[in-house]
Amino acid sequence: MQTIIVTGGVGFIGSALVRQLIAETDATVVTVDALTYAANLDSLGDARQSPRHVFEQVDICDGRALKRILDEHRPDAVAHLAAETHVDRSIDSPDAFVRTNVDGTTSLLQAARAYWAALDAERKAAFRFLHVSTDEVYGDLGADDPPIVEGACYAPSSPYSASKAAADHLVRAWQRTYGLPALIAVCCNNYGPCQYPEKLIPLMVLNALDEKPLPLYGSGMNVRDWLYVEDQARALRTMLEAGEPGKTYHVAAHEPRTNIDVVRAICALLDEMVPRAGGRYAELVRFVRDRPGHDRRYALDDSRFRAELGWRPEERFETGLAKTVRWYLEHADWVAGVRNAEYRRWIERQYRDPESPE
Ligand code: NAD
Ligand code: DAU
Repeated sequence: MQTIIVTGGVGFIGSALVRQLIAETDATVVTVDALTYAANLDSLGDARQSPRHVFEQVDICDGRALKRILDEHRPDAVAHLAAETHVDRSIDSPDAFVRTNVDGTTSLLQAARAYWAALDAERKAAFRFLHVSTDEVYGDLGADDPPIVEGACYAPSSPYSASKAAADHLVRAWQRTYGLPALIAVCCNNYGPCQYPEKLIPLMVLNALDEKPLPLYGSGMNVRDWLYVEDQARALRTMLEAGEPGKTYHVAAHEPRTNIDVVRAICALLDEMVPRAGGRYAELVRFVRDRPGHDRRYALDDSRFRAELGWRPEERFETGLAKTVRWYLEHADWVAGVRNAEYRRWIERQYRDPESPE
């Protein structure tokens, strides 16, 4: 593929994908991103200076701007990652999630469809629209339920996951009704460098270093499956290159951990890397009011993706977590850039009076 548009390419997973595409392929990458609070241009690293990288600051709800970008850059594929992504923010203010994840995906589908329909037969057949979705669309599982297979019913719990579920349905409809060569990646929890510190792992690392409480929702026993972001980016590249339009592929790490285990592991790493004068970091853990509608456990069966396209993750959770903690320790500038006034407002709003029952 010669030219690939990556929406949300300045965010956590998008920037990992852009960095990999620039470093490891000859493709030209057009990053389309509105630069919301969750974006930091520094996350693009060396890719930002590459002559094969173009940045377009555009909102995916702006259909005219999308048309201009598609006509100008003539992509062979669109990887769609732009989204509002934080579950807690979706509970606090759902509107932005419907706007970007549902309306934005619709306007991107419409623009992509018009562009794709006018391509010559060869380019039309080769074009791909890769939509990035989440295991949260299926709702949660009990402790002993088997992993979810592609085609299972959707049962989203939060405004975030409901908006992502709606987007998946739209992508599927555009594929089925208009023939747009779209495919869907349903992914588990990612972690790694450049993740905005509202999410569990970076929040805990930075709070610990600041001697702030480590707020675990509810019992701390909820389970997530953790995939290193570079493996996620490789999975998306595999789908772009070899995935079959009309198919959904699950991407799983097979590294399930309870939240309390994740936080204890972070604390143990910090105890080694930057010993705490006053004791152990785990002493900062606090069990706080639960997230409303909190999903207990996610688990995806990704045997289709592994068997048909041959993808395997390269990173184990323990080594990936150590790399991640070290990355946050060594990138104080990146951290300072995202922990701005908006960030402090969110943390204050979300974690004030965390032990109250309401
Ligand atoms: P992120 O929040 O780090 O980044 C999202 C990016 O989208 C930001 O750069 C933001 O500026 C951009 N964006 C938001 N609204 C936009 C709009 N209206 N127009 C253009 N750009 C806009 O997200 P992430 O964690 O990198 O997630 C990327 C995708 O992967 C999302 O679709 C998310 O639902 C999905 N996903 C994430 C995870 C995870 O663990 N992080 C797991 C499964 C699926
Ligand atoms: O499963 C994929 C999803 O993973 C993605 O679709 C989402 O975009 C991404 O944000 C992530 O959602 P989660 O809700 O699983 O991630 P988060 O980091 O917010 O929380 C992980 C777990 O940790 C979850 O059970 C809630 C818990 N948690 C989170 C925070 C921020 C806490 O206990 N305390 C916290 O302060």
